[in-house]
Order: sequence, then structure tokens, then C-alpha cells
Amino acid sequence: MTDQTDVGWTDDEVAKAVGTNPLWYHTMELRPGIVTPGWFDLRPIVGSFPWPDVRGKRCLDIGTYDGFLAFEMERRGASEVIATDIGGHENWDWPPRLRARGLDFMEEFAGPKGLGFEIATKALKSRVQKKVINIYDLSPETVGTFDVVVCGSLLLHLRDPFRALEAIRSVCTGELLSTEQIELELTALHPRTPVTSVAHIPDVQWHVANLAGHRAMITGAGFDIIRTIRPYCDPFGPGHPPPSTSAWRRALCKAMTGRYGVPHSAVLARPFRTT
Ligand SMILES: C[S@@+](CC[C@H](N)C(=O)[O-])C[C@H]1O[C@@H](n2cnc3c(N)ncnc32)[C@H](O)[C@@H]1O
Repeated sequence: MTDQTDVGWTDDEVAKAVGTNPLWYHTMELRPGIVTPGWFDLRPIVGSFPWPDVRGKRCLDIGTYDGFLAFEMERRGASEVIATDIGGHENWDWPPRLRARGLDFMEEFAGPKGLGFEIATKALKSRVQKKVINIYDLSPETVGTFDVVVCGSLLLHLRDPFRALEAIRSVCTGELLSTEQIELELTALHPRTPVTSVAHIPDVQWHVANLAGHRAMITGAGFDIIRTIRPYCDPFGPGHPPPSTSAWRRALCKAMTGRYGVPHSAVLARPFRTT
């Protein structure tokens, strides 16, 4: 939580604070030349997302991690941004074998929960507000409603992505920007048929759909798709361990998305209306 009476950090203090976080998920420039060593660097691709106009809107970023997408909405002129996440690693829907390795292992695997967001908010002097809440518990009663909702790279980690999408639908009065990891080989083999790779990374990911599958999940959960972009890759950041992807998959990635990273799909959608 940002201390509103705080006059703010100097650049030296920001650089020091960045070094106290053992794991950054997002690569972000918090001050000129002070860049977090994140696992992923969304900066080169964020401008190509099918963004709605967020100016003057109440916006929600679900599963914010270090907050990159929430800060992006603030930068684009949102009047209010709420960033939500779970409070601890015990709240992920990890598959049983990963869960059995215990909380310490998960902390090492995914970093102390919320520290990156806290440092980034303070360094950026951001007004984004954090709320700890599980995606399944989003409702007009718990968080109110939002003109714009963003949910990035989270459905693949959920045991029940459709229940989560229904919860999103209950708080979304305007538009949903959904960015989600996709399986490229299944996208090439089944360009029009929704299919999914079950246990895509065994014991870590429940499922990763192909491009048609991501879009079908969104429409199946009660949204109409307004805009899409072609598949793209989330580029790895400087903090990512060396990926063990085969040369063939790297080539497929480059051929289908133009760069190497984790393949994704992005759609802009709105809750379907009966009238
Ligand atoms: C892979 S990261 C994606 C971060 C960011 N949204 C992005 O697109 O770059 C998944 C995020 O979702 C959060 N998360 C996992 N399970 C969740 C749940 N059940 N409810 C809310 N957030 C969850 C994680 O803590 C993490 O911050």
C-alpha cells in the first residue's frame, strides 16, 4: 500500500528497492534508466493490443503481478485503476503435484507475492489501487463494476477458467481485453477448430488453448468479440531463466508471430446483450 504522505523516493532509493525484490515478473522502466529485470518484457508489444479507449474510465486489471498492465491503463488516461491479485502463493490453482512441493518452493518459483507491485507503485508515484481478491470472487458486491477490464495470462493457470470469465462478466459493463497464452502448433494444425493442450507444462499449467480456443472461451462465457489481433509473442525479459524451447518451436514462433517468446492471443470483447 502506497503511503500518501510520503514525498517519494529518490532515483537511488528506487534502484535500491528494485534490488530487494528477488523476482520481477514484469520488465518496467520505473525511472529513467532504472529497469526491473523481469521475466517478461511487454513494452515492445503492449501498443499493438486491441485497447479500448480507457480515458476517464474506471478500469480493472486482474492478476496484476508487478502491475505493468494496470500502470499502462493509468498512463493511457483511466480515471481510476484497481489492480487485483491473490494474497499469497497458496491461493493459486496450482495442480496438485506443484502444490505438494510447498509454499517455500512456490515463493522461490514465483517471488514474494506483491512486493514488485508495491515497489513499482511507489517508484512511479502511481495512483493505482491494489485489492487482494481471487478472480472467482469478483462481483459487483465485492469490487463494483468497471468500464474496462483487463485479464492477462491468467486463464491457463485456472482450474475453472469459465467460472472466472463469468465472474469477470458480472463486473464488466463495458469492454474486456483478454490476453492469453496460446498453443501455436495447435493453432497451425486447427486454424478454425477450438482445441486445447491439457497440462501444457505438466504440473504448472492446466491447459493452453489454440487461437480459436481462446476466442471460443471468451464467446462461450458470454462475451461478443469486437476486435482481435494476430498471434504475438510475449518477449522474455532479462530475468527469465534460459528457455528450454526446441529449435523447431522457436522457428514456428518466429514464422507465426515474427518474434520469439511465449505465444499469445489478444481479444477485445464486451458482454453480450439480449436486446
Ligand atoms: C502469469 S501472471 C500474469 C500477469 C499479468 N496479468 C500479465 O498479463 O502480464 C498471473 C497472475 O495472476 C495471478 N493469479 C493467479 N491465480 C489467481 C486467481 N485465482 N485470482 C486472481 N489472480 C490470480 C498471479 O498471482 C499472477 O499475478
